[in-house]
Amino acid sequence: MKSVVILISGAGSNMQSIVSAALREDWAGRHGARIAAVISNRPDAAGLAWAREQGIAAEAVDHRAFARREDFDTALAEAIDRHAPTLLVLAGFMRILGSAFVAHYAGRMVNIHPSLLPAFTGLDTHKRALEAGCTVHGVTVHRVTADLDLGPILGQAVVPVLPGDTPELLAARVLAQEHRLYPRVLAGLLSGEIS
Ligand code: GAR
Repeated sequence: MKSVVILISGAGSNMQSIVSAALREDWAGRHGARIAAVISNRPDAAGLAWAREQGIAAEAVDHRAFARREDFDTALAEAIDRHAPTLLVLAGFMRILGSAFVAHYAGRMVNIHPSLLPAFTGLDTHKRALEAGCTVHGVTVHRVTADLDLGPILGQAVVPVLPGDTPELLAARVLAQEHRLYPRVLAGLLSGEIS
């Protein structure tokens, strides 16, 4: 059975859309895959409680407990590797991961980023897209490599920028597309349709 581990930092709405799709679309039967665990760097992440309610192993590796970034990365990798992931899915995981961590999961780590990459890497993507006068904006799922937010693109969805948009309105429009795109790309990777 393929194992999928999801990393979150907050609400975990993308994680919820992935878990829901895995159940609804029978990823176990169709792709031989299960969501093995949800892990957060914040013990208070709302998504952890939700995952536990679905019967999924959920735990926190609190980044504040580690003075050095590499020590956090090591502890996080230990927690992840107990589930032997085929795929490591960053879903609103807001810590920058070190090069050794990225190398350890080379070829099996993916991320979702709220912009049409390569435009607007980093933070505050919706505000920056509005300030730049973009007429379209969107979301990207990509492989994670050493270049922050710039690994090979696996899927994108586009939304219009509308008159009167605020960063919050735009973010909500993008998030609705995130919830559709991420499960679709992951199913494609698990089935081999996306290589
Ligand atoms: C999502 O919009 C995701 O694209 C973004 O954080 C949000 C998490 O929401 N990720 C990044 O900005 C990564 N750099 P969620 O916790 O409800 O899934």
